[in-house]
Amino acid sequence: MSSLLVDNIGELVTNVAGTGEGGPLGIRRRAAVLVEEDRIAWVGPAAIAPAAGRRIDADGAAVLPGFVDSHAHLVFAGDRAAEFAARMAGQRYTGGGIRTTVGATRAASDDTLRGTVRRLRGEALRQGTTTIEIKSGYGLTVADEARSLRIAAEVTGETTFLGAHVVPAEYADRPDDYVGLVCGPMLHAAAPYAKWIDVFCERGAFDADHARAILACGQARGLGVRVHANQLGPGPGVQLGVELGAASVDHCTHLTDADVDALASTEVPWTSGTGTGTGTVATLLPGAEFSTRSPYPDARRLLDAGVTVALATDCNPGSSYTSSMPFCIALAVREMAMTPAEAVWAATAGGARALRRTDVGVVEVGARADLTILDAPSHLHLAYRPGVPLIRQVLHNGVPQCR
Ligand code: NIG
Ligand code: FE
Repeated sequence: MSSLLVDNIGELVTNVAGTGEGGPLGIRRRAAVLVEEDRIAWVGPAAIAPAAGRRIDADGAAVLPGFVDSHAHLVFAGDRAAEFAARMAGQRYTGGGIRTTVGATRAASDDTLRGTVRRLRGEALRQGTTTIEIKSGYGLTVADEARSLRIAAEVTGETTFLGAHVVPAEYADRPDDYVGLVCGPMLHAAAPYAKWIDVFCERGAFDADHARAILACGQARGLGVRVHANQLGPGPGVQLGVELGAASVDHCTHLTDADVDALASTEVPWTSGTGTGTGTVATLLPGAEFSTRSPYPDARRLLDAGVTVALATDCNPGSSYTSSMPFCIALAVREMAMTPAEAVWAATAGGARALRRTDVGVVEVGARADLTILDAPSHLHLAYRPGVPLIRQVLHNGVPQCR
């Protein structure tokens, strides 16, 4: 069996509460981690670390669980840099540009789409992301949604069918028919490649009735539920997600007290392939507020109400063209009043909860050997040194990644 010891770790973030210091971060000092094949086999003091076939010397640096990016749209063609420039010159983001990307995506070859997905997946990995969720949503025909998910499934098990991203132009005057297509032939073609179903529940996209119908069809096909909710204004998305037992409601930028109460009181138990848990996570996507120059979500209000918060990139060519979890952590700390510890937890363990995974986002025996070694002595530096490439090395499934 191939074994690898990550030794001489100055600060190990385990996310095992009650371990060492740092509250939920479960920080151990002067630690080592033994990896066997793709799993963590031992965690303890470096002074008594077992021998291993290979050794990585962390040289006193901080080591974290790999980031879990639970929300990304990587299957698309083209970009919308001009739209970004117009926004920075004062235009508002409305989501209207989604149709531009739909046109480019439909016209692209499989290899072009595959190239973009792999490039962005590689970019994310080099920045410490070891688990990533990828949505469809720029095809919006039966064939284009199915191929988007087929290509996404080549690089991740966390695939999400977002046929209900917007109503495409050819269905503009008959949205009911489009909902019928999504629930019928499109879901049928997409489901073999998808683990989750998602709807953009927003004024100008899908209302509560349409969103409920689509999510219920997905659930009946065995897909888990996630919702794009309350991004551009207050709306029914968050409470609909909670009602349907969604794993996560994402964006959460415009929340009422009733939305926060609904999230705080979700105790619905779940069982997944990797473990059990409860509740609906609020996934915040500060890259979107950055890139649309919008007010950030009120993370403090959610955290203080006891809601589980995750951070993700929302990587897409329109509202948030970043694949960088460290950037999102820095934004969350500076702009959303999260502490560095809360932000790091949300970007690792929080993302894992949003995907209902218990084998990632944590450093403990039996977990996947997904580790990020920083070029820094502490997790604090991720927010303290924004924009600096602090990811020294990444282990994914026990394999050190080339840089
Ligand atoms: O999560 N809000 C809907 N979907 C994406 C944006 C997609 C786009 O603008 O292309 C989001 O922000
Ligand atoms: Fe999104």
